[in-house]
Amino acid sequence: MVATTAHLLAIPLALAALVLRQPSTRASAQQPPLPRPAAVALRGCRDKCGNITVPYPFGIGDGCYRNDGTPGFSLECNETWSPPLLTVAYPYGIQRLARFNLEAGEARAYVSTTRTCYNSTGGQINSTGSSNYMQLMNSHHRFSNAKNSLVSLGCPVLGYFVDGNGYYVSGCMSPGQGDPIFNADFTACRYVFLVETDWLTTTYSDRAYSNRSGDFAVPLVLDWAVRNVGNCTAGRRNATDFACRSTLSECANSSNGPGYRCSCKGGYEGNPYLDGGCIDIDECQRRDQYPCFGVCTNTPGSYTCQCPPGTSGDASRQNGCRPKDKFTLALRVVTGVSAGVFLLGFTCFWLYLGFQKRKLIRAKQKFFEQNGGVLLQQQMRSYDRAGAGAAGFKIFSKEELQKATNGFAADRVLGRGGHGIVYKGVLEDRRVVAIKKSKMMEEAETREFAREMLILSQINHRNVVKLLGCCLEVEVPMLVYEFVSNGTLYHYIHDKDSNADISLNTRLRIAAESAEALAYMHSSASPPILHGDVKTANILLDDKLTAKVSDFGTSKLAPNDEAEIATLVQGTWGYLDPEYLMTCLLTDKSDVYSFGVVLLELLTRKKALYFEGLEEDRSLVSCFITAVKAGRMEELLDIQVRNEISACDILQEIVDLVMQCVSISGEERPPMKEVAERLVRLRRYQKHPWTQDDGNPEETQGLLLVSEQRNGHLQSGHQQHAFNIEDGTRYFTL
Ligand SMILES: *[C@@H]1O[C@H](CO)[C@@H](O)[C@H](O)[C@H]1NC(C)=O
Ligand SMILES: *[C@@H]1O[C@H](CO)[C@@H](O)[C@H](O)[C@H]1NC(C)=O
Ligand SMILES: *[C@@H]1O[C@H](CO)[C@@H](O)[C@H](O)[C@H]1NC(C)=O
Ligand SMILES: *[C@@H]1O[C@H](CO)[C@@H](O)[C@H](O)[C@H]1NC(C)=O
Ligand SMILES: *[C@@H]1O[C@H](CO)[C@@H](O)[C@H](O)[C@H]1NC(C)=O
Ligand SMILES: *[C@@H]1O[C@H](CO)[C@@H](O)[C@H](O)[C@H]1NC(C)=O
Ligand SMILES: *[C@@H]1O[C@H](CO)[C@@H](O)[C@H](O)[C@H]1NC(C)=O
Ligand SMILES: *[C@@H]1O[C@H](CO)[C@@H](O)[C@H](O)[C@H]1NC(C)=O
Repeated sequence: MVATTAHLLAIPLALAALVLRQPSTRASAQQPPLPRPAAVALRGCRDKCGNITVPYPFGIGDGCYRNDGTPGFSLECNETWSPPLLTVAYPYGIQRLARFNLEAGEARAYVSTTRTCYNSTGGQINSTGSSNYMQLMNSHHRFSNAKNSLVSLGCPVLGYFVDGNGYYVSGCMSPGQGDPIFNADFTACRYVFLVETDWLTTTYSDRAYSNRSGDFAVPLVLDWAVRNVGNCTAGRRNATDFACRSTLSECANSSNGPGYRCSCKGGYEGNPYLDGGCIDIDECQRRDQYPCFGVCTNTPGSYTCQCPPGTSGDASRQNGCRPKDKFTLALRVVTGVSAGVFLLGFTCFWLYLGFQKRKLIRAKQKFFEQNGGVLLQQQMRSYDRAGAGAAGFKIFSKEELQKATNGFAADRVLGRGGHGIVYKGVLEDRRVVAIKKSKMMEEAETREFAREMLILSQINHRNVVKLLGCCLEVEVPMLVYEFVSNGTLYHYIHDKDSNADISLNTRLRIAAESAEALAYMHSSASPPILHGDVKTANILLDDKLTAKVSDFGTSKLAPNDEAEIATLVQGTWGYLDPEYLMTCLLTDKSDVYSFGVVLLELLTRKKALYFEGLEEDRSLVSCFITAVKAGRMEELLDIQVRNEISACDILQEIVDLVMQCVSISGEERPPMKEVAERLVRLRRYQKHPWTQDDGNPEETQGLLLVSEQRNGHLQSGHQQHAFNIEDGTRYFTL
């Protein structure tokens, strides 16, 4: 409740006199016993009204209160009342003061409630009126907004609280019939009052309160402070006016409105508003508050509590002191032993660390040699001399890569495959790279590693992901590649969310670029470098959708002699050359087969292995062959390809190419170079003058909608558009 300069409506001063004759005994009982009767009021002034203590700055009579021009501290005690009535001097209508709290800056007052009564037909019988009010404006007092509540009692009633200017501040109402709190019907008298919140839980317990007709007073909490200046800083400026008189006092800004309060420093008590008002607390006399089971010595503002001579320990705890001698002997032994143990442990640990470090260095060196690092270094040096230059190829340290990948953090994982995990890394020169951590390799494989690595590092083709370096200090070498930003072709084709249109031209370009890369690997190096695992997941796309063949890390140099023929067939099911599967001999034609599957995937937008329809239809290649034999090839194609391909009449050529690539016999498959050339030709042919290129999406879309309709392959989302087109309305807002 925000009540700065507020008055409570309709608090009757006249009636208060009648009511206040019965003060709450409960309220009086709450008055705490004052520790010291001395130094409460000014010398020669009354410090009591009845049994209520009146501390300075409050005072009864001239010269006994703090007079700074702001009303509120001057009190009157009328002893013709029983018990005596303590009020703030006229004209301030605080009706009965009951208790002062110097520390908290609070006072409790009793005020009578505002009341109106009605007869059975609703006519007003009697009321306390609404012209009387509690005046706090510009005084030292304010209604406590933390400890009071506004209460409307009786049904129905609306109570509200206004500030001094009559502006609405706060209100509450009880609605009458079916009242959820009191479950009461209409009552004859209705009350509105501000009351100490505690009163609601302690005194206000019986339902009778809601159906009463008399007047009664309720306690309420006032926050008082020295308010003739705004804060401590301002108060200190005039030393004669500053209220905190005691040298041992502190000043605190008021938390409710302007002004400040005083309090005694820690370890002192009394009245900070008086000269010399704060006095030392003798803690030794109050063992309940300041526990001490040893020798207690009071000091100004504090005290000491020590164990009796000959003992030591914690005197503030019961039985906390122990005889000294035994303890120190035990302590000495314990200290000696633990220091010895610690030293021994530390030495062992230090030796162990050194040993581990040496072991680590040895292990690194071993891996480096085992992985062909020495050979690689030699070869690099000789290449450098020859001027060939493995340009940019670098042997990275383990620490460098750890730092680049943030310690191979899980959030840096770009992908996981059968061969290992690929991390995204940022090198010290801010270059973004992809770091491939392979799974365990056969020892026989690692022997060839350095040679292959060096050859791969020489390859500089725009459609091959560049190998930037490697790390040999680990058990299984790690490879560092250039980072390609747009993910894999697999995701580009199959992800539901990237279901964007891919024009036939783009598909053919990606296919041609991939084929060129493979052809280059097959023909430009001797012996040829075989990929061994061509698939859409190993073709990456950069920001311009340029294809980059990756994962030559598992590639093989074509074996020179029979002995080097691999005994383990590796590859991805669905792409795997059936001939390689039977002979265990990987050839360049194995890559051609796998590429045929990639081409098929690009054209159909179906996965190499897919699980729809009949069991035997799972493999894309077998589906394709079946469809071609039955002359139903067109049905298998992606809807967009079907549309574009029918327009430029290259279907047969593409089908022929794929059929040759996926032929069972490797001999019948064309070499990669030929595949690449045919794809480039197809692409050139497909770029017919009137066929739209990638660059005109709107036209493509309009065409797409019509074709969907024609082919009867309507999905629910598209149906709407189809009908709209029929109606002659066009919506291109997919
Ligand atoms: C104060 O006076 C009232 C009424 O005389 C009495 O009921 C109450 O117990 C007294 N309180 C103290 C603390 O003496
Ligand atoms: C004390 O209260 C009585 C009764 O209300 C009144 O008649 C009297 O004038 C008051 N005395 C003083 C000093 O205010
Ligand atoms: C109720 O009070 C009104 C005037 O306030 C009066 O006119 C009416 O007669 C009273 N009704 C009863 C039932 O007393
Ligand atoms: C209020 O009290 C009167 C008599 O004291 C009684 O007739 C009436 O029913 C009571 N009303 C409620 C709502 O309790
Ligand atoms: C006001 O009216 C109520 C209801 O008739 C009655 O009980 C009460 O005594 C009256 N109060 C005064 C002060 O006249
Ligand atoms: C402190 O109080 C003075 C007036 O008493 C006022 O001018 C000043 O703005 C107050 N300072 C703050 C920070 O409220
Ligand atoms: C300081 O306070 C005293 C007492 O309130 C007053 O008389 C005096 O004028 C004040 N001095 C200044 C500089 O405000
Ligand atoms: C009181 O308030 C003033 C102004 O905001 C501030 O400078 C001063 O530090 C405060 N003093 C205390 C004791 O909080």
